[in-house]
Amino acid sequence: MILLILLGCAGGSSPGGDTATAPTTPTEPTPEPSTAVLRVQVTLDDQPGEGVLLTQPGTTLQWTTDSSGGAEVEVLLDLDGDIALAASHPEARIAGETISDSILEAGELEIALSRFLTTDNPAYVFQDPGTPTRSDTTDQCSHCHLSLTEDWYDSAHRSSASNPQLQDLYAGVAGALTEEDACLRAGGRWQEGRQPGTEEAAWRCYLGEGVLPSLNEGCGEELPCDSAEASPEQTGACADCHAPGIDGELGGRDLLEATGIAYDLGVHCDTCHKVESVELSASEPGVAGRLRVLRPLEETASKALGPYLPLTFGPYPDVLNPRMGSVQRDHFANGTVCAGCHQYDQPVLVPGEELDAARWPEGRLPVHSTWEELVQGPLGTEIPCNSCHMPPDAEAGNSADLGTHDAGESVGIATGWYRPAGSVRRHAWFGPRSEEQRMLGLAAWIDLQVETVEDELVARATVHNSGPAHAIPTGEPLRSLILLVEARCGEELLSPTGGDVVPDFGGAFDQKEADEDWELWPGAEPGQRIRVARRSGEWRDYTGFGPFGDGSFSAEEKGLPVEQWAGEAEILAVDSAGRVQLDRPLPEGERAWRVSALGLPAEGEAARAWAGAPGMAFARLMVGPQGERNVPHFMAVDIASDNRILPGQASSSEHRFEGGCEAPEVRAMLLHRAFPLELAAERGWPLSESVMAEASR
Ligand code: HEC
Ligand code: HEC
Ligand code: HEC
Ligand code: HEC
Ligand code: HEC
Repeated sequence: MILLILLGCAGGSSPGGDTATAPTTPTEPTPEPSTAVLRVQVTLDDQPGEGVLLTQPGTTLQWTTDSSGGAEVEVLLDLDGDIALAASHPEARIAGETISDSILEAGELEIALSRFLTTDNPAYVFQDPGTPTRSDTTDQCSHCHLSLTEDWYDSAHRSSASNPQLQDLYAGVAGALTEEDACLRAGGRWQEGRQPGTEEAAWRCYLGEGVLPSLNEGCGEELPCDSAEASPEQTGACADCHAPGIDGELGGRDLLEATGIAYDLGVHCDTCHKVESVELSASEPGVAGRLRVLRPLEETASKALGPYLPLTFGPYPDVLNPRMGSVQRDHFANGTVCAGCHQYDQPVLVPGEELDAARWPEGRLPVHSTWEELVQGPLGTEIPCNSCHMPPDAEAGNSADLGTHDAGESVGIATGWYRPAGSVRRHAWFGPRSEEQRMLGLAAWIDLQVETVEDELVARATVHNSGPAHAIPTGEPLRSLILLVEARCGEELLSPTGGDVVPDFGGAFDQKEADEDWELWPGAEPGQRIRVARRSGEWRDYTGFGPFGDGSFSAEEKGLPVEQWAGEAEILAVDSAGRVQLDRPLPEGERAWRVSALGLPAEGEAARAWAGAPGMAFARLMVGPQGERNVPHFMAVDIASDNRILPGQASSSEHRFEGGCEAPEVRAMLLHRAFPLELAAERGWPLSESVMAEASR
């Protein structure tokens, strides 16, 4: 810790309190002069450092050096903390020093900057971020950045590699089925593979598609692909974004190589803050291409600093703590760093399959397009991702918890200086899954209009994307939003009589086309419904993302048939062959689904099968090689439809119900669902739906 008695403080608030007169010409008549002028000379690798940004930490003062590397600066002496100067250049670690009494007297200061080496060092070991309860040494970021660590620890970034759904989809496993019996009953294979995050063997339930078994021919036929003997080649790029902290060569790594910190702590401090630049034109995701990671190569002799000279990229130009080796980059504050992983166009990964070149001339399918949705939205990059997902921390003294430690710590190079309230951003990445702030309520609102036309209630529901600067839903293509509309007289549900219905991706236990036997539903249970929709032959002409909105696709190519309510019947009994007895005859129609009962759900209730219910649904629908709909993106060979609601836009649907009483109530509810119902059921994932918006009339 650097302790320095300050001189030249005219104000009484500073520690040190001596009142020597500062060697300056006063610029304002009163109060007393509390500034000092210094002639600063900056070198960059021993040459004049032109265009170097000079700042006085703890203030907002800034200067830039001229072509000779010089600048005249007027530093503020009345300050809570040491008087210092920092020099920031994009090719060098920030350098500077505390301005001592003798420097002030001499009126001159020299700062030498050295360019950092620009070759990434694969031998570097990513540093331990620490955790909220593991922060005892300066080897952990949490030691000095505890508040940031606490927020990050609860975020989806921290659990991005250990995420059980990710691991299930990677190995083709249902991790929830931990007993052989349950596994076999579900149609799985009980085999010895590997415990994710470890090198250890473990018995697991192999079931359904997976990156390793589905993308590597022959893999998984005898031994599971995640067993020690297997060496699959196609790894689906999952680790490039979900486990960016695997040491060694960056990019194209097997997710199973993520062990230790890379597994437990996912997208962590030292992965994001080693990003030197973001290559928006690179097609490989995350650390495989779009994020240019630079791990330091310069060796140090100092044990305290580790084997290599510290190198940290961050938003600030004024951090002098030598433990940081700080370099300022704009891509943090303006959110461009997010585009490294929240934007991804994927080629077809399934062996032997190709994209339809007429539909996808670039040869890639948009999987994650959150960044592009923002860029193409009405505000462009004016409101960066950070402004909503990393809200300002009004309490933080600075980003290293200055002011929350023992009283009497001296403010200076080691601790950093006080920053204006709200300049530190919470590393919480609030999203639909965050306990503290789910954000879903900020994303959408429903405009519900109801009129009575000849004994029928006609409801028009318009869902507005009102909050996010990106589509809703965005991100993982397995997400969907489901709009449900119901009408009641008191407790009693009014029967729908027509209007738009939730498409198949709202979830069904089973589905049949017109030419199939609608009485045969093996696996059916009494109480479930058979719901029927009519298809008019027309297609919805919506404005979606990319070719679904830019005029490239016709309405038919946008893939959403107009489907209207035809009717439903309740299953009363099922015989052993699966033939159902219904409470009434089924109406005619083109599609039938086996689904759950109607009626808006209670918050937190397990997800229901909503296909065919009065309402609508919004998703990017990935299609598999056999035409399977709503597949995980690694199986995708096409996108059937993408009617997600773009920023600032809205989507309307119409729903009709029988009139029944004097004062019927119509209610609409918009639900956010994380995974397709069928996939969650197959893998034993818990699935509930969260309410995003409600309206009633
Ligand atoms: C370009 C970076 C990137 C790549 C590559 C990537 N993902 Fe993701 N993945 C993300 C992001 C970002 C999210 C979070 C988006 C959201 O919440 O909507 C996510 C979310 C998920 C989720 C949802 C997690 C949950 O708990 O809700 C699953 C499952 C998933 N990814 C699986 C995979 C698999 C399997 C692969 C490899 C085939 C893969 N991802 C490749 C960036 C990526
Ligand atoms: C997903 C990438 C990401 C991860 C992971 C991450 N950061 Fe940051 N960090 C950022 C971005 C972006 C900013 C800039 C925020 C702003 O100013 O808008 C930032 C800013 C900072 C700052 C400057 C203060 C501020 O809030 O602006 C510090 C200090 C910091 N991060 C430390 C950490 C530590 C410690 C961790 C681990 C606990 C961490 N970061 C994890 C992206 C990340
Ligand atoms: C010994 C204490 C200490 C440790 C350990 C530490 N930091 Fe810092 N760090 C600081 C201080 C002090 C600041 C300046 C705080 C400020 O001015 O707001 C800082 C600033 C930063 C910044 C902002 C840099 C800039 O120029 O924008 C980032 C990013 C950061 N730290 C990341 C990390 C990461 C990642 C780790 C772990 C690998 C880490 N820090 C470990 C003390 C520490
Ligand atoms: C190194 C890759 C990477 C970078 C860089 C990155 N993210 Fe993420 N992000 C992910 C992954 C992977 C997930 C999903 C983790 C999971 O659920 O398994 C995710 C999840 C999220 C979520 C949570 C979504 C939810 O469903 O709760 C938000 C919000 C988010 N990221 C925002 C950001 C913002 C804002 C930035 C830029 C400051 C950013 N991310 C930078 C990879 C990244
Ligand atoms: C104006 C505020 C705002 C901005 C800017 C913003 N978001 Fe969001 N974001 C939200 C809200 C609100 C939600 C919750 C709605 C939802 O999940 O669909 C959300 C949801 C998300 C999700 C979770 C999606 C899901 O359903 O799983 C991810 C991932 C995400 N944002 C990433 C980003 C990234 C990356 C950027 C910058 C490119 C960004 N956001 C910019 C407000 C914003």
